[in-house]
Amino acid sequence: MSIMRNVLLAGSQNAWLRDHAVRYPFVRRSVSRFMPGEKLEDALRATAEQQRQGISTILTHLGENLTKMEEAEEVTRHYLGAFDLIAAQKLDAQISVKLTQLGLDLDKEKSFENLMTLIRKAESTGNFLWIDMEYSHYVDVTLEQFRRAREKTDKVGIAIQAYLRRTPKDMEALMPLAPAIRLVKGAYAEKEDVAFPKKSDVDEAFYQIATKFLAHESIQRGALLHIATHDPILIGRLREYITKQQVAGSAYEFAMLYGIQTGLQQRLVAEKQRVRVLVSYGEFWFPWYMRRLAERPANVWFVLKNLAG
Ligand code: FDA
Repeated sequence: MSIMRNVLLAGSQNAWLRDHAVRYPFVRRSVSRFMPGEKLEDALRATAEQQRQGISTILTHLGENLTKMEEAEEVTRHYLGAFDLIAAQKLDAQISVKLTQLGLDLDKEKSFENLMTLIRKAESTGNFLWIDMEYSHYVDVTLEQFRRAREKTDKVGIAIQAYLRRTPKDMEALMPLAPAIRLVKGAYAEKEDVAFPKKSDVDEAFYQIATKFLAHESIQRGALLHIATHDPILIGRLREYITKQQVAGSAYEFAMLYGIQTGLQQRLVAEKQRVRVLVSYGEFWFPWYMRRLAERPANVWFVLKNLAG
């Protein structure tokens, strides 16, 4: 892992930096490249614009590791309202949540109740809920809550991180559920015995997990893979596999983040591929933004350029 990536990921956890950095206009200017605004209305406007371009959306209200259960209730109410607005405005937008945003650190059962409240709302509004994956110490409990929810309804999917050494085993255990999986590389600082430190190993793990998933018989039973990466080489390799193996278009979607590889997003749409872009919004963007910088340290120069602009 590069020194810059380590520094940025450590910074994402720093409370002093979080409280101070967000006040600087040049930081706020540079974050606007990755999010259309802090308010839900900004995100809904971006959703409508993406829809015009043939791109579907996933919305996420930024926030993680809450310290009071009332905040988790507030987040839950916020998302209930968001599901209503999406339905009223006939938008093609799903929602993605972090379990720590629903109170996981404070009360496991209560966070599961909040999760189920949102999934029931997704069901009643003809929508779908995704669960993000966070640090590796949350993987067991996140999988457990996903499994409990998935046994009740298929309107829920989960993010799985290819950089974790444990992931092939987790995937094997999930496949009988014919799950909806968002496969990502993984965005957190993890120890070498937990996650592959080398990018080439992560890329290969991603390819192996994705192809195994797409070849699995549970695809016939409705399993869905979100190929959530901006990596053009990996996307190219997977598209070759999909064409060669004649994988059904209903078995996968490409998923990316707002403001990243927009040219590639549009090219995929032009080539009749399904593309879903995750739009983040909210005031608590600091740790999330630091993870985006860590993914591509060249982004730090972009931040510095905004010092002048
Ligand atoms: P990689 O990092 O190899 O980048 C490939 C290329 O994409 C780069 O060369 C560059 O051109 C471009 N690129 C990538 N990141 C960029 C950035 N920040 N700025 C500018 N260009 C960039 N992680 C997690 O741990 N839990 C989760 O729940 C999620 N959820 C999630 C949803 C969706 C829809 C996506 C796309 C990603 C996530 N992630 C995530 C983040 C994921 O784990 C990973 O950190 C990022 O996607 C970056 O890795 P890539 O796969 O894009 O490849």
